[in-house]
Amino acid sequence: MRSPVGIASAFFVIGLSCWSSISGSPRHSSKNRHDTSSSTQSTPAALGFMMAEAHPYPHQCVNSTTEDTRAFVESLFTAVALDNFGASFAAALSDDLVWTVSGSSVIAGTYPSKQIYIEKVLTPLRAVLVTLPVPIVEHIFCDGDWATVNWRSEGVYGKNGANYDMQYAWLMRTEVDDEGNRTIVEVTGFYDSIKVNAVFEGYVFNATKV
Ligand SMILES: *[C@@H]1O[C@H](CO)[C@@H](O)[C@H](O)[C@H]1NC(C)=O
Ligand SMILES: *[C@@H]1O[C@H](CO)[C@@H](O)[C@H](O)[C@H]1NC(C)=O
Ligand SMILES: *[C@@H]1O[C@H](CO)[C@@H](O)[C@H](O)[C@H]1NC(C)=O
Repeated sequence: MRSPVGIASAFFVIGLSCWSSISGSPRHSSKNRHDTSSSTQSTPAALGFMMAEAHPYPHQCVNSTTEDTRAFVESLFTAVALDNFGASFAAALSDDLVWTVSGSSVIAGTYPSKQIYIEKVLTPLRAVLVTLPVPIVEHIFCDGDWATVNWRSEGVYGKNGANYDMQYAWLMRTEVDDEGNRTIVEVTGFYDSIKVNAVFEGYVFNATKV
C-alpha cells in the first residue's frame, strides 16, 4: 500500500497552499509547519484568532469536513480490501447513489440508484470475475465532501482468462445522512474499457427493465 505517502504529500500540499494564500510567504509556511511552538508568536494576532475559530489547531490548515471524508474513505478502502467489496462497500453506498461508469465499455453509463448499480454493474462483475479486485490505493485526495481515489488492481482475471489489472480513478461525493453516517452519493469512475469488455465477452446481461 502506497497510500500513506499519497496522503502525506496531499496533506502537505493543502496545508502549504492554505498557509501561503493567507500569509503570502511560502518560507514562513514551511517554518511554521515544523516549528509549531513559534507559529503562534510569528502569526499576526488577527490571523491566529480567525484560524483558531475554524479549528482547534491554529498552526495547521485543517478542514474538518475534508478530514472526516478522508477518514471515511481510508477506512472504506481498508474494509473493502478485507471483504472483497462485500457488506462494507454496500453499507457505504447511499440508496440514492448515482454511479457513472465512464468510457465506452459494455457497462458504461449512469446508474441512478444503489440497487440499480449493484444489479447492473456489481452483480455482473461478480459473475464474470474469478474474484473482485483487492484495491491497491495509490492516492487519496479529499476536498470537503469530495474524495478522489486512484487505485489499481493486480492479479485479477475474468473466468474466461482475460486479465483485469487496471488503474482506477473514482471521483466520489459523500454526504452525511440523517443518522449522522457519511455515505457515497455520487461516483464517476474511470476504468480500462478494453479490459472491461474483454472479461464480459460472451456474457449475456439481464435485459429485464427495472
Ligand atoms: C471545507 O472545505 C470545503 C470544500 O473546499 C468548503 O466548502 C467548506 O466551506 C470548508 N469548511 C470550512 C469550515 O472551512
Ligand atoms: C450509522 O450510525 C449509527 C450511529 O450513529 C450506527 O449505530 C450505525 O451502525 C450506522 N449505520 C451504518 C450503516 O453504518
Ligand atoms: C433481472 O432483473 C430483474 C429486474 O431488474 C430482477 O428482478 C431479476 O432478479 C434479475 N435477474 C437476474 C438473474 O439477475
